[in-house]
Amino acid sequence: MPSYTWFPANVDETRAAAVELAALLPRRAVVQLTGNLGAGKTTLVAALVEALGVAPSAEVSSPTFSLIHEYGEPTRIYHIDLYRLEEPRELFTLGLEEIFDANALVLIEWGEKFARFLPPNRIILTIEHGDGDHRRITATGDLLSTRTSPESDPRISPAPSSSAPSS
Ligand SMILES: Nc1ncnc2c1ncn2[C@@H]1O[C@H](COP(=O)(O)OP(=O)(O)OP(=O)(O)O)[C@@H](O)[C@H]1O
Ligand SMILES: [Mg+2]
Repeated sequence: MPSYTWFPANVDETRAAAVELAALLPRRAVVQLTGNLGAGKTTLVAALVEALGVAPSAEVSSPTFSLIHEYGEPTRIYHIDLYRLEEPRELFTLGLEEIFDANALVLIEWGEKFARFLPPNRIILTIEHGDGDHRRITATGDLLSTRTSPESDPRISPAPSSSAPSS
């Protein structure tokens, strides 16, 4: 399964990682963003929305309370935050089935809370805190492009899982 890792040292480098990630993401996919509070999930989504030419990053805010934000052209993007949801029955009121069926890139913060209700072929994006502004971003999923190989782009290092044979 394709897997890519970035080690941004600050927000600007996270934005640069988002530009590379945008080139690897299909325009139709469900992406689960996993990381602690304040890890940088919303920051990464804002950079991705901008990298895909859909909206300036400054126009992307956290859907903490509204739960779902939608962006239009040229790629339809849904930005969803499930942090405040506690029960699956709350999830079922959001109309996610329809969103998953749409021709859209669906980015879900705190998706792991309801992982069993997400499409199995989703892409997993994890953001982990390092010291200060350092982060480790990992993207894993069968739907990720393999056309930018780590060999051809030294800025992208393969995650350990992709180089180690799985047993
Ligand atoms: N390298 C970095 N990448 C991303 N964000 C960074 C980085 N360094 C510092 N930050 C800061 O960390 C914060 C990340 O906040 P953000 O809202 O994106 O987190 P989040 O994971 O969406 O949190 P929440 O779980 O509350 O939704 C921002 O204030 C951002 O400026
Ligand atoms: Mg957030």
